[in-house]
Amino acid sequence: MTEQIPPRWASETFWKKTAIWVTGGSFVLLVVLTFDSLAKISAGGPRVPAYSVINKDIGYRFDKSKQRYQPVIGDDAPLFGKSLSEEEAEKLVDLGKKTVQAKNCMNCHTLLGNGAYYAPDLTKAWLDQGWIAKESREQMMLNFLLDPEKNARTFGSNRKMPNLEITQQEAEGIVAFLKWMASIDTNGFPHNFRALGAED
Ligand code: HEC
Repeated sequence: MTEQIPPRWASETFWKKTAIWVTGGSFVLLVVLTFDSLAKISAGGPRVPAYSVINKDIGYRFDKSKQRYQPVIGDDAPLFGKSLSEEEAEKLVDLGKKTVQAKNCMNCHTLLGNGAYYAPDLTKAWLDQGWIAKESREQMMLNFLLDPEKNARTFGSNRKMPNLEITQQEAEGIVAFLKWMASIDTNGFPHNFRALGAED
C-alpha cells in the first residue's frame, strides 16, 4: 500500500503561516491608512481648509465632471467684519465646536454625517438659502442662535428650535464653526441641499 502525501493546504503549518502573514499584512495596511486618513481630515489640507478660511467668502458650485457640489473659497469676507489670524480663527471655531458638543445639537441636527434628522442638517447650514437678509448673514445666524423662538425660520416644518441659552460669545463661535464646516469638501453631502446663490 502506498502512503498518500496530504495536499499542502491540509497541513497545519501552512494555515499557521497564512494566518501570521494575513494578520501582519492587515496591521501594516491599517497603520498606512490611519496616517493617510489623518492627513485628509486635518484642518489645513486640500479637503478640510485651515480655520482662517472663515476670513473668506465661501461659495458652493456644481462640478459637472464630478456630478456633485463643491465648496469654492473666494475673496476676503471676514466674519463679523474682523479678519482673524490662524490662531484666533482656530480658537473661535474651537469654542463653537465645544459649544455644539456641550449643548448636544446632534440630538436634533446632523453634522458631517453624525446626529439626528429632526432638524435641518447643519453641515452646510452656512450656505442655506434661508440666510438672505437685509442685515449680514452672520448677524441673522447670531440672532437666530441667541433667540431661536423669536427668530424662527421653520422651513415649512413647523418645528421650532428651543432657546438653548447660548451666550453671545458662544454664538459667535458657533457661526464660525458652521462657516468653517461649510468650506469642507464632503463629496457633495448632504444630498439635495439647496445652497444660497448656488451656481449650476
Ligand atoms: C430640540 C431640538 C434642537 C436642538 C437641541 C438644536 N436645534 Fe437647531 N434647530 C431645530 C429646529 C427644529 C430647527 C428649524 C427651526 C426653524 O427653522 O425655525 C433648527 C434650526 C437650526 C439652524 C438653522 C438651520 C439652517 O439650515 O439654516 C441652525 C443654524 C441651528 N438650528 C443650530 C443649532 C445649534 C448650533 C444647536 C446647538 C447649540 C442646535 N441648533 C440645537 C432644533 C434643534
